[in-house]
Amino acid sequence: MPAVKSPKPVFGIDIGGSGIKGAPVDVGSGVLLAERVRIKTPQPSTPAAVTGVITDLIRQFAWEGPIGCAFPAVVQRGVVRSAANVDPSWVGADAAELVSKATGEMVHLVNDADAAGVAEMEHGAGSGVDGVVVMVTLGTGIGTAVFVDGILVPNTEFGHIMLNGKVAEKHAAAKVRRREGLSWSEWGQRVDTYLRRLEDLMLPNLFIVGGGVSRYHEQFFPELTCRTPVAPAELRNSAGIIGAASLAARRLF
Ligand code: BGC
Repeated sequence: MPAVKSPKPVFGIDIGGSGIKGAPVDVGSGVLLAERVRIKTPQPSTPAAVTGVITDLIRQFAWEGPIGCAFPAVVQRGVVRSAANVDPSWVGADAAELVSKATGEMVHLVNDADAAGVAEMEHGAGSGVDGVVVMVTLGTGIGTAVFVDGILVPNTEFGHIMLNGKVAEKHAAAKVRRREGLSWSEWGQRVDTYLRRLEDLMLPNLFIVGGGVSRYHEQFFPELTCRTPVAPAELRNSAGIIGAASLAARRLF
């Protein structure tokens, strides 16, 4: 997927279940122009509380300019349509508009896994890969992004397929490993069951596994038995920030 050509930097923000991270991004190269800042996600993570944190975040950088946001839910044209890991009062809210009002800047807002996937396709593990690529982010929940010859099919939400009688993300997200005190190998086997299920449904050419936990891929990749090649995300925890900025540049410039 060719990177977007943009002369202007964009501020990328990744809103997650546990942290809200941001940094200015050079979207052409996918490089952060300053060290990213992380602020704990407020609880409850209501629209007012989260937009307050975003305003603080961009103030820390004295940022003036366009903003790309990654949000952990289904997002259609800036409007939030689900809330598995954020406060339910977001459902139906025009999040792009709310962040824009709070910051006074132009805002483009997309699903977090879609943003991370775009960054990996442009600058990371999926760069130059054709066919069907499935990015899976393992964090508070499970996010997915599907690409067909580099084109994103947005809001796929395959973290919510059923696995062993449970919603998959309740069985195999990174948070579940910590909450249930699973060893890397026990949890890796759950990730394997999940990937094999996705493989049966989609026959991808490549899986990219992301989320903060991808830093520890050597601990759980040995459990993976699927036939599809699996690559760790290369941009790690910055993928959401970079992809959100890149998608904003495509839309806003
Ligand atoms: C949400 C997805 C999101 C994923 C990762 C899931 O619970 O439904 O929209 O991408 O968590 O944050």
